[in-house]
Amino acid sequence: ARGTRARGPAGPSVAGPMADVGGIATWRDEVAWEAAWRALERHRDALAGFSLRRAFEEDPGRFQRFSRRLELGATEMLVDYSKHLATDETLALLLDLARASGLERAREAMFAGERINVTEDRAVLHVALRDLSGRPVVVDGRDVMPAVRDVQRRMRAFVEQVHSGAWRGHSGERITDVVNIGIGGSHLGPQMAVRALEPYAVPGLRVRFVSNVDGAAIDRELRTLDPARTLFLVASKTFTTQETMMNARTARAWLVRALGDEAAVARHFVALSSAVEEAARFGIPRESVFEFWDWVGGRYSLWSAIGLSIALAVGYESFERLLRGAHALDEHFRTAPLEENLPVLLGLLAVWYVDFLGAQSRAVLPYDESLEHLPAYLQQLDMESNGKRVRRNGAPVSYPTGPVVWGQPGTNGQHAFFQLLHQGTVLVPADFIAFAQPHHDLLDHHRALLANFVAQTQALMRGRTTAEARAQVGGNDLLAAAKTFPGDRPSTSIVMPKLTPEALGALVALYEHQVFVQGVVWDVNSFDQMGVELGKELAKEALQRLSLGDGDAGARPGAELDPSTAGLLAYLNERAGG
Ligand code: F6P
Repeated sequence: ARGTRARGPAGPSVAGPMADVGGIATWRDEVAWEAAWRALERHRDALAGFSLRRAFEEDPGRFQRFSRRLELGATEMLVDYSKHLATDETLALLLDLARASGLERAREAMFAGERINVTEDRAVLHVALRDLSGRPVVVDGRDVMPAVRDVQRRMRAFVEQVHSGAWRGHSGERITDVVNIGIGGSHLGPQMAVRALEPYAVPGLRVRFVSNVDGAAIDRELRTLDPARTLFLVASKTFTTQETMMNARTARAWLVRALGDEAAVARHFVALSSAVEEAARFGIPRESVFEFWDWVGGRYSLWSAIGLSIALAVGYESFERLLRGAHALDEHFRTAPLEENLPVLLGLLAVWYVDFLGAQSRAVLPYDESLEHLPAYLQQLDMESNGKRVRRNGAPVSYPTGPVVWGQPGTNGQHAFFQLLHQGTVLVPADFIAFAQPHHDLLDHHRALLANFVAQTQALMRGRTTAEARAQVGGNDLLAAAKTFPGDRPSTSIVMPKLTPEALGALVALYEHQVFVQGVVWDVNSFDQMGVELGKELAKEALQRLSLGDGDAGARPGAELDPSTAGLLAYLNERAGG
């Protein structure tokens, strides 16, 4: 028997030995982990009645102890985790759990290039892509850094050529528009970063993104593009992803039709991929393929050649600053003791909410419009990494793992879903992100923005008692009930001086490592994504059965379909003609 343990917020633990499947060793010390978990359960029960308001009143040192200011070279970061439903003891017990999970060993294994992605038998080395220290990083006995630096040199040279106008389109025009065609990790990171770093944009070059297989997406872009001045980046690690390949083929056909020459492809398409041969088969010359490696996960790839759209948008110098910011955070994560280590502390607090306080989601609320794509980016990072149901050794987990991640910039969210955050019946820990200096001179706007950021974290924490509400509404009980805020709604505040490339790099790396920490505590493989495969396979089959009025594809033979799927396909085929 696998001996799984019914654990988690709801139930008591059921002891039993954990079997290894496929001989994958766990970093976890099972006995110590179990003890730490139970200690946290007891602590959670003992903490009932904890009030953040009271904790702050009784302990003037709480902010000092539960916040950290990190110097990160050209940037810095203040992380305030004092507004969490946690005490010194909570953190100490969570750190016990981290140690029992083998977090230090796991961290070392990642940085050392061990094949910690066990299902795909791959190393996990996105940190090497931003390691500008000159240190060798060895995978299978080979230092990967010379190849990393070689691609970076080629990226820099290409970016300079496009910016200077030395790289021209097939008919001799300058490139004015870049379209990144990619999806998931080959889209979300670059799109998020290009938008966030708009103040650093190189003038004269627009960078756009197409991801969805929905023809409306690429159609909309192609309508406003001049083929003679457009450069397409086909961004795909595997170069087989249906959406990306279909969009790339459509773009290619559009370009060849408009410029009247197959040879134009060489001047208007480059590939960002680890599948160099596949890219060549698409017709992209070898010298226009910017390579990365299987040890870079898709959702961890914005630092690799996949970041070419970022480098084109903001210049290679700024792209390198992004890498530097991430590297500074990597150094903190790699070297700081667990109790001072921000990704560790934040990752553990996330575990605390999911596994001990029953939270099923977490909100990401950047008080910065230019981080509008950050929540979508973090959704993939977190949910594709830790939305897992088996341990690294294949045995089922018996506790909740990755939460739903969602959010949007403040103050917009305040007028949409904050009602539920303040007075709803579910617990949603929230990350607030803000920058002291804006990139514009509308200081009254910035003051208002920051005032809202501070006020929201304060309101969530302290709430408003019924007595306070009653006093406000002249003793009207009905109104007082409606205007009562329970408070004790937890939040982390991440504040930085300014949204520079370094700041963005550090912020993203902070999240990447947090996700890693959670994955280690849960003992899941945070670096595969098998859960996306079944839908992809079935879509291939469904494609065979969708005629959309064009022939009789609906009747093509295939596996027996369930009546619902068959009914949907039949309706679509029947109505496709309009
Ligand atoms: O959605 C699954 C996935 O494999 C992601 O993990 C990945 O980021 C995305 O598809 C795109 O993959 P590729 O870069 O190979 O086109």
